[in-house]
Amino acid sequence: MSVCEFRPGLEGIPAAQSGISFVNGQQGILEYRGIRIEELAEKSNFLETAYLLIWGELPTQQELEEFEHEVRHHRRIKYRIRDMMKSFPESGHPMDALQASAAALGLFYSKRDLENPVYVRDAVVRLLATVPTMIAAFQLMRNGNDPVRPHDGLDYSANFLYMLNEREPDPLAARIFDVCLILHAEHTMNASTFSARVTASTLTDPYAVVASAVGTLGGPLHGGANEEVITMLEEIGSVENVRPYLEDCMQRKAKIMGFGHRVYKVKDPRATILQKLAEQLFEKFGYDKYYDIAVELEHAVAEKLGGKGIYPNVDFYSGLVYRKMGIPTDLFTPVFAIARVAGWLAHWKEQLVQNRIYRPTQVYNGHHDVSYTPVHLRQ
Ligand code: CMC
Repeated sequence: MSVCEFRPGLEGIPAAQSGISFVNGQQGILEYRGIRIEELAEKSNFLETAYLLIWGELPTQQELEEFEHEVRHHRRIKYRIRDMMKSFPESGHPMDALQASAAALGLFYSKRDLENPVYVRDAVVRLLATVPTMIAAFQLMRNGNDPVRPHDGLDYSANFLYMLNEREPDPLAARIFDVCLILHAEHTMNASTFSARVTASTLTDPYAVVASAVGTLGGPLHGGANEEVITMLEEIGSVENVRPYLEDCMQRKAKIMGFGHRVYKVKDPRATILQKLAEQLFEKFGYDKYYDIAVELEHAVAEKLGGKGIYPNVDFYSGLVYRKMGIPTDLFTPVFAIARVAGWLAHWKEQLVQNRIYRPTQVYNGHHDVSYTPVHLRQ
């Protein structure tokens, strides 16, 4: 095999053949299983979209009802998982709590029966069902409260907001949250999905697959950017300060959070939808001054950096939406993870069908034939 050129970040190098999602970064197109994201955001719901991603086709009415029923009835977490989470430090990041808890699920379901469709379905249902419960439980317990039991009368998204805020959410807020989950459910070969596929390729269990992907999603260059966007908007503080702030960032060559993408060279279609959702939310629940700052920043960045293809990505407006729903800033990335579990599991299933363990190569740039120096002679 010929040795190919090293590409930092594996830019442009296909890591899998996949039929799950498609991005055209020049035209700002995103499709899940061939369906445009705009259409799914308008007509679907998160669990139906998860089914589409994982099983490859939209479910029939009966399939959807059965799937929703199964997920609804697996939402509770084992008390031993809850007790384990109770012992986590309150100051720890919820992404770390989620990573540890997702991995711990594997302790309870340790049989790896990857070729058995019943095992695969159970794992899919269990992960989709319990990740929101674990996040809400950690949030309540770190504030000294008991976790709230899932509400069987509420759908997936409404139930998460209920467990988090201890009250039934407004229907518009719940629907908007559900659309946010649709938008974040899958996005081709990003860092956490690659991580999931590498882990899957070893034929380990799906809990380890999701745990490794959660760990990867947490970084500020990936899912963690939505938290940093809010910190940045607070630091800017006013519309007048937007341009001086941007000038300063450009001088320091600092990245502007929520902007830029390896694939999109135009505005991310998800950011366009999220911006509209933010406006709907503000119309109903009141104005947010940080939205004006964000819009001004988008204009200023387009002027100064648009030529380089730097436009808002999915993380730019999502934080403003979550904040308005009362979701704490450090839960933004865990919320991203709730959605992306669907994409990771779709890739896990796909990887198992065409599996070959990932084992890339490297370009060695170290020394050879170095002699061992005894410790007392080392400087
Ligand atoms: N602000 C200012 N300049 C930027 C930005 C930005 N946010 N993003 C890229 N650039 C510039 C960068 O300085 C470089 O310029 P030059 O060629 O003059 O050195 C050029 O654009 C290419 O940047 P890069 O870092 O090589 O691009 P990448 O494809 O390796 O990184 C990225 C993509 C998303 C990590 C990067 O754009 C970034 O760090 N953005 C800020 C963090 C962020 O919003 N992350 C969320 C990503 S989308 C959701 C997700 O994946 O989770």
